[in-house]
Amino acid sequence: VTFYVEDEDGERQSIEAPGDMGLSLMEILKASDYPVLATCGGMALCATCHVEVVEGKDGLGDASDIELDQIDNLPNPTPTSRLACQIRISDDLDGAVFRLKGESN
Ligand code: FES
Repeated sequence: VTFYVEDEDGERQSIEAPGDMGLSLMEILKASDYPVLATCGGMALCATCHVEVVEGKDGLGDASDIELDQIDNLPNPTPTSRLACQIRISDDLDGAVFRLKGESN
């Protein structure tokens, strides 16, 4: 599956990742050296893995209550904000675009 990540300067890069290994977007971002702190290690507790879903929202499952609570507490939430650690990479995400928001927290 190929998706796109936009940094805070608006630069878009494509990332290819396996869609069948149950990896989270956060794990892929960290492995690709994006500046994602992910302090809590993917427990939906720190919200430093905040991303905005620019395209491909339909390929994502619904956010859990815990995730929604974290997003509510962010200083800069958007209508399509999600936590990257709660997004499972699957073939449904082909062509999706994620904008990194975590650095501004
Ligand atoms: Fe902490 Fe996602 S890594 S909320």
